[in-house]
Amino acid sequence: MINTKKTLIIFTTSILCLSLAILSDGQGNPFLLQLDRWEMLLPSIGISAMHMQVLHNGMVIMFDRTDFGISNISLAGGMCRYDPSDTAVKFDCSAHSVLYDVVSNTFRPLNVQTDTWCSSGAVLPNGTLVQTGGYNDGERAARMFTPCGYTQRCDWIEFPQYLAQRRWYATNQILPDGRIIVVGGRRQFNFEIFPRPDSRSRGSRFEFLRETSDGSNENNLYPFLHLLPDGNLFVFANTRSIVFDYKKNRIVKEFPEIPGGDPRNYPSSGSSILLPLDETKNTNIEPEIMVCGGAPKGGFSYVKSRRGFMPATSTCGRLKLSNPNPSWEMETMPLPRVMGDMLLLPTADVIILNGAGAGTAGWENARDPVTRPVIYHPFDRRFSIMSTPSRPRMYHSSAVLLPDGRVLVGGSNPHVYYNFTNVEYPTDLSLEAYYPPYLSFTFDLIRPKILTSDKVVSYKRSFNVNFSTPQFLTVDLLSVRILAPSFTTHSFAMNQRMVILKLLSVERDQLTNSYRVNALGPSTAEIAPPGYYMLFLVHAGVPSSGAWVHIE
Ligand SMILES: *[C@@H]1O[C@H](CO)[C@@H](O)[C@H](O)[C@H]1NC(C)=O
Ligand SMILES: *[C@@H]1O[C@H](CO)[C@@H](O)[C@H](O)[C@H]1NC(C)=O
Ligand SMILES: *[C@@H]1O[C@H](CO)[C@@H](O)[C@H](O)[C@H]1NC(C)=O
Ligand SMILES: *[C@@H]1O[C@H](CO)[C@@H](O)[C@H](O)[C@H]1NC(C)=O
Repeated sequence: MINTKKTLIIFTTSILCLSLAILSDGQGNPFLLQLDRWEMLLPSIGISAMHMQVLHNGMVIMFDRTDFGISNISLAGGMCRYDPSDTAVKFDCSAHSVLYDVVSNTFRPLNVQTDTWCSSGAVLPNGTLVQTGGYNDGERAARMFTPCGYTQRCDWIEFPQYLAQRRWYATNQILPDGRIIVVGGRRQFNFEIFPRPDSRSRGSRFEFLRETSDGSNENNLYPFLHLLPDGNLFVFANTRSIVFDYKKNRIVKEFPEIPGGDPRNYPSSGSSILLPLDETKNTNIEPEIMVCGGAPKGGFSYVKSRRGFMPATSTCGRLKLSNPNPSWEMETMPLPRVMGDMLLLPTADVIILNGAGAGTAGWENARDPVTRPVIYHPFDRRFSIMSTPSRPRMYHSSAVLLPDGRVLVGGSNPHVYYNFTNVEYPTDLSLEAYYPPYLSFTFDLIRPKILTSDKVVSYKRSFNVNFSTPQFLTVDLLSVRILAPSFTTHSFAMNQRMVILKLLSVERDQLTNSYRVNALGPSTAEIAPPGYYMLFLVHAGVPSSGAWVHIE
């Protein structure tokens, strides 16, 4: 009798670094198995997903801009918007924001009145999204969105004149006390705090932004902000970076310029990430920043003077802030990229996707879409190019990590209006999901599944997660981590952070063949500001789906 049952043997231990695995069919004939994949979720969500935020009920709020002309989705209930200051159409019955339900893969229109173009956001500790600024009648708006069930009617609530200053291309960061700092914006060399302390407050000066502005090239919009474990902010603008004490409006430390002299912020548009904060070691957390890609110096004026599209930057810089004399360690991405998005995956790897190989951010400013994601492994500093391409995701595309471990990708609108023809890169209204290699069925035998978890995780207090897995290996291969969902736009995932938590014990329940993990909540609100996080278990490099926990 011939045994026809195929045994799949994986020949590599570091399987997750590859998008392909070499497998054997038991006959000694290795074949390649595609581990990663893209899925077209919806060919049109009616708008271009320029800004995205995952909410703690698993829904994703998305929006583009109100002065873009007629979108491909109508406002609910035959509603229309009349806005005399709108630069495209004053009478518009189409929606410019939608709420996407991940589980049912459906969406509904939301009603936003003021212009959200190139704005920013952060989620309050109670789960309400605060979204700030934009253009024209939206430049000083604060808007709120409180998550509700999909069939319920929750919608945007807007405060058009809320902000102290105009905030167009600003960056937001949630603070340890639950307030939000809003930094910069076009011609705004200052920052302000939400909620606004009083109606007379005008915000605080921030000369660093004036100093780092490259004239009409700017190159310091959407500054990269990361809250550090000591409570200060890391701010990166153009080529310079500092530790900033926003409470005293004082620069605590300035780092060397990133080598090479290439600007990294809009419209040069590289990206930046705070690498996972590790609480498992019994030493102080050593925060580390990584900045990747962008356009070379002069790239923007090169495009604007119609000389062409300069090849994008392929370098990344890593900066360990706690070193006595921190210096950038440079690395080279296998694919040069401008307008890439950098996201932390549950595995603590970094995915870099979307964007272009030449040009800069801005209308019609880029060429050569880079459609293959790259996954970077911070631990051994390796980049892997993924094998499957997406559609071109140029200017105004975005990406967020979903609780189920997929990466949601949408947008691409590299010109004014929703132009689907007669343009180099048509406006893209579709929504795609990228399945990183770890989601492949190949790893199902060791994939942990969270059965139950405490809903509240308190600082320095232990909590429980109950899980099962077909095959449990060893405790050393198990890790518990929390990941804050990002507000992503213009190549920067605001508020994204991962904290790897201390595991205290793992107990097996013989009867149910499940396991109970006891782990320690984050040490401080500076390490993990209060709010909703996705909790992941990772077992031998394979993550569970995320469970929502509230850190408080
Ligand atoms: C607009 O939406 C309709 C369905 O409502 C769809 O058939 C059409 O392809 C969409 N257009 C674009 C450009 O996505
Ligand atoms: C969260 O707090 C904000 C500001 O106080 C408030 O407007 C909002 O309604 C709150 N959201 C929830 C879900 O309670
Ligand atoms: C895009 O469409 C608008 C409105 O239909 C039109 O005015 C504009 O010229 C188009 N842009 C390009 C680059 O073709
Ligand atoms: C995990 O949860 C299940 C269902 O609530 C329970 O039966 C089991 O005993 C738990 N296992 C552990 C190890 O606590």
